[in-house]
Amino acid sequence: MRQLLIKNINQLVTVASGGKPWKAGAEMRNIGVLENSSVLVENGRIRAIGSEKDLASTLAPDAETLDASDRVALPGFVDSHTHLVFAGSRENEFALRAEGKSYQEIAEQGGGILSTVKATREAGKRDLKKSAARRLDDLLQHGTTTVEIKSGYGLDPDSEIKMLEVINDLAKEHYATIVATFLGAHAVPPEYQSNPDAYVALVCERMLPYVAKRRLAEFCDVFCDRGYFSPDQSRKILNEAVRLGMKVKVHAEELAASGGAGLAADLHATSADHLEHVSQEGIEKLKNGGVVATLLPGVSFFLNHGYAPARLLIDSGVPVAIASDFNPGSCMSFSMPLMMTIACTHMKMSPEEAITSCTLNGAAALGLSSRLGSIEVGKDADIILYDIPNYRYLAYHFGANHVATVIKNGTILEFS
Ligand code: NIG
Ligand code: FE
Repeated sequence: MRQLLIKNINQLVTVASGGKPWKAGAEMRNIGVLENSSVLVENGRIRAIGSEKDLASTLAPDAETLDASDRVALPGFVDSHTHLVFAGSRENEFALRAEGKSYQEIAEQGGGILSTVKATREAGKRDLKKSAARRLDDLLQHGTTTVEIKSGYGLDPDSEIKMLEVINDLAKEHYATIVATFLGAHAVPPEYQSNPDAYVALVCERMLPYVAKRRLAEFCDVFCDRGYFSPDQSRKILNEAVRLGMKVKVHAEELAASGGAGLAADLHATSADHLEHVSQEGIEKLKNGGVVATLLPGVSFFLNHGYAPARLLIDSGVPVAIASDFNPGSCMSFSMPLMMTIACTHMKMSPEEAITSCTLNGAAALGLSSRLGSIEVGKDADIILYDIPNYRYLAYHFGANHVATVIKNGTILEFS
């Protein structure tokens, strides 16, 4: 038996949901703050929460103790949408956007996703893995303990499989909890520009069966948007994924109102992501379909293309998650506190709603909230200690890393 007692926590933000898979509506503001509290961790899981005195009777004599005076504790962030495995970079596009070019204009001129596809196809597995592992170390040091990673910069069978194998290797070898998503339909590759339906057929008939058979990904995702995949093409791919036993997600309504939210609801998707252009009708469908709305404030900020209607979604009772969408084109940041700051300033979410969105509801967007996303008895002990006076500082004092200690599965991580 391996015990760790984290004692004297100045402020413990539990985000406890009492067994509910997510928080919605007014509940999102209830983040379960406890003052001067302690957490007892046993074999990587949370065994008990209370005052140090309360926990004394369950404490083993050889328990490790961590004094968290002056610290604020939160659940590790669950970043439920990233494209963290990629080669190359796109700072040239960043400069072009500063001159007034849009993301779509750049993509139409051969930049965008396809420029990262070119670099990723050329990269070896070892290099892809090395750069991604370094990013994951960084993520952990910024408080993210669980991360979803998509393929989608390969767009041919071998390159997509290469990406998924890298993600699966990282999942085995890295401290972070990693969830793999197959995004073969991220863009139409250059070879199929004149016949996109043939690429959809390739995804359905060759890639998906292989991915499902080897269990290389838990989720299948599609970029259902103007200039990418139509709702019909997306439905075909996602239906096939469901038939093969995979769970589904949709990149929906980012660049235009394209019907992705309704599609996500029809298919019982775990989440619909982006949603900058979602309609009231789409919001109702998400709510009735039990789909988590994953908002990506960093993309709206970085591309400066408008924000998803977070208030409308929350006030309509849709469970809202926030993720970084970390990728070299539309959001070159994985800082979840920064996403919270943007959500509060530009989307009028409260700091408490932002915290719920980055933790419990992020876990729900991966179907993992029975295990992750809150500090509650029985859950994995993924706990971050911050050097801040209270939890509201996290989004308020932006652009700094306030992490003091990272505890993943009950282990205190040391960074060199
Ligand atoms: O989620 N929207 C589609 N895909 C990514 C962008 C990827 C890229 O530009 O490389 C996104 O924003
Ligand atoms: Fe994305």
